[in-house]
Amino acid sequence: MNIYDMQQEILRLKKEKDMCILAHSYEAREIAEIADFVGDSYALSVKAKSVPNQNVLMCGVRFMAETVKILSPEKRVFLSNPLAGCPMAEQMDKPMISQVKEQLPDYTVMAYVNTTAELKTIADVCVTSSSAVKIAKALDNDKILFIPDCNLGSFVAKSVPEKTVKLLQGGCPIHAAVRPDEVKAAKALHPDALVLVHPECVPGVVEQADYVGSTSGIMDFAKASDAREFIIGTEISIAEHLQYDCPDKMFYPLTKTLICQNMKATTLVDVYRVLRGEFGEEILLDDETIAQARRCIDKMIELGG
Ligand code: 13P
Ligand code: SF4
Repeated sequence: MNIYDMQQEILRLKKEKDMCILAHSYEAREIAEIADFVGDSYALSVKAKSVPNQNVLMCGVRFMAETVKILSPEKRVFLSNPLAGCPMAEQMDKPMISQVKEQLPDYTVMAYVNTTAELKTIADVCVTSSSAVKIAKALDNDKILFIPDCNLGSFVAKSVPEKTVKLLQGGCPIHAAVRPDEVKAAKALHPDALVLVHPECVPGVVEQADYVGSTSGIMDFAKASDAREFIIGTEISIAEHLQYDCPDKMFYPLTKTLICQNMKATTLVDVYRVLRGEFGEEILLDDETIAQARRCIDKMIELGG
């Protein structure tokens, strides 16, 4: 079966199975094309609350499928490829953060959405890369413990200097691997290009950027900008999607290593096989985890909207 025929079959099957397909913008083009909704982590979380279908398929990584299940426990939620985890989400667990909380009792625990459902049960508020600064400003406490990404956390700390932000040593292995000298090299190669980066990059990279934002933030900025050339400092799919959407502009990946193998784990064949009941994983969480983890996600949507 060629790609087009497989996409048509997926569209037919998802209607038949009452399945809504949500895809993160790091997914490949052929998956974005058959999705009902494509977006960044924040937009996907908000969307998860209002999906009309009885079944939801998340093409992304595990914490995203868990977030859908937490917000829509009455639905059957599937992860497109059971191997698609986010290494950052596995870096800190509940016993570790419970211990830190005991040492910092007057701090609000702000958890990046890239965390497990179990860890979210003890967080006070959840954030995404597009909502973190806004939510940090809106919190009534001026002491924040930001977990797990110290790079996004330090971007929040710089953007909200009036608050004390404590950080731990976690982060995205893909974004954190981009070096400041690679930005200089990319700028030397493309002197007219604007540099757009994700806040999961290290401060030395973020400081050289013309714009810092979430995956959707970067896409919106590039589309609205009068500039013609852009160096894209986030997962390589974003440069690819932008090149499709804006053929009259030029998009250069900041480095060739900005590839998230977990986001790329899902293929169109996986999606097809999930719809045929042959692959994927149904996300199952117990009622207590759902109820406790939901508090911090609801707070994110209340403060981040
Ligand atoms: P967004 O919040 O921009 O969707 O990013 C999610 C993510 O995993 C970035 O690496
Ligand atoms: Fe996780 Fe980084 Fe991949 Fe995002 S890009 S899903 S943070 S490993």
